Amino acid sequence: MEILRITGGRPLRGTLAVQGSKNAVLPILAATAAIPGRFTLSNCPSIRDVAVTRTILEGLGLSVAGRDEVLSIDSTGPVGSGPDPVPAGQLRSSVLLLGALLARLGEAAIPLPGGCVLGARPLDLHLRSLEALGVQVRCENGRLLCRGRPSGGAVLLRYPSVGATENLILAALGAAGPVLILGAAREPEICDLAAFLTACGAEIRGAGTSCVRVLPGPLHGAAHRILPDRIEAATWLCAAAATGGDLSLSALLPDQLRPVLNVLSRAGCEITEAKDRLRLRADALRAPGPIVTGPCPAFPTDAQAPVMAALLRAAGITVIEETVFSDRFRHVPGLRAFGADVEITGRIARIRGVDRLHGAAAAATDLRGAAALVIAALAAEGESRITDARHLDRGYARFAERLRALGADAAEVG
Ligand code: EPZ
Repeated sequence: MEILRITGGRPLRGTLAVQGSKNAVLPILAATAAIPGRFTLSNCPSIRDVAVTRTILEGLGLSVAGRDEVLSIDSTGPVGSGPDPVPAGQLRSSVLLLGALLARLGEAAIPLPGGCVLGARPLDLHLRSLEALGVQVRCENGRLLCRGRPSGGAVLLRYPSVGATENLILAALGAAGPVLILGAAREPEICDLAAFLTACGAEIRGAGTSCVRVLPGPLHGAAHRILPDRIEAATWLCAAAATGGDLSLSALLPDQLRPVLNVLSRAGCEITEAKDRLRLRADALRAPGPIVTGPCPAFPTDAQAPVMAALLRAAGITVIEETVFSDRFRHVPGLRAFGADVEITGRIARIRGVDRLHGAAAAATDLRGAAALVIAALAAEGESRITDARHLDRGYARFAERLRALGADAAEVG
């Protein structure tokens, strides 16, 4: 999808089943390269990052068959140690093949990863930690060359990096002894990776806490249902909140969205919850108080842009501090095109609610920033055109179709 045309001013109403989590399925797909076996993954989101990862895995020698949201993967044959740089360079999550291939082969040659431009995205936490486990790491011609079976031992992450935690868990599967990860990330997607690996026979303790222990042992294939996507759910809730809508979401885990639900509730949304569903009704919004993003259990950085867009007309002033990425306000110029009043000072955004937003043309810069532009367009009066809308395809399945199902006037153009 290159251009998304939206005529706003209509409340989003209806029901939607949340897709499987992009940030859970990607590390789990990487994990299938670590373990010789046959795997069935259900609730896989039909998104471009999954399609690209599937190409990478097939290039390594795995076979991947897919029907709807079920992927069947066979990694029992020989597996290469170096993914194709073209697809691997499109995703940040391709770096997780480092840990997976080290576990399986004792070596890996990974192209430097791609992914959303959100400021600096170094790999020092991944690489220094692997070195602490005795892995030799060097970078040559844009590739990370790693060799050596990880030893057992303890590693301390100075920052709870999601990817570094996942890479260490994967590398630890092939380690010579137990691996203790201190300062680990606690995101729900880490727990889903651990649940998948446990189904494969791994012994992993402490996933979801800052201290994770992996005991290497024999592993085998498994079936696993991917966790619901808490950020996709947050995105839809923000779209409903921004348009005075009435949205029921199913197939999600409200507790994994708690920081976002608290903000939307403080902003005046009426939220009713059940076990795996919730309903949000919104009218006029008010500033919910300060929002500070951070590692789980803090407010998720991935929901920052959609929530900012939902609050553009909230009465009062909202302050958002982005503590995770150094440049994650790239969607703000696009929001200003709709008439938003947002001031940026370093990592602080100050949103003054305006009465109205008007249609505009704006270019998407990254996945969640693109979602923010869509939310602003839905709340704006008149027609908007969002270019570079292909960013949405990376993480939101059938986005325009699902928008229309909720009553939005949205069309893919070009
Ligand atoms: C994962 O990225 C997610 N991606 C991101 O979601 C998410 O924003 C991020 O975690 C934080 O929650 C996937 O899971 C595929 P990090 P990741 O390592 O692992 C710094 C989306 O929109 N850092 O936790 O790359 C880094 O620069 C995407 O779905 C180092 O300094 O995030 C950043 O400031 C965007 N050195 C912070 O840590 C390192 O070696 C958090 O990064 C690694 C990271």
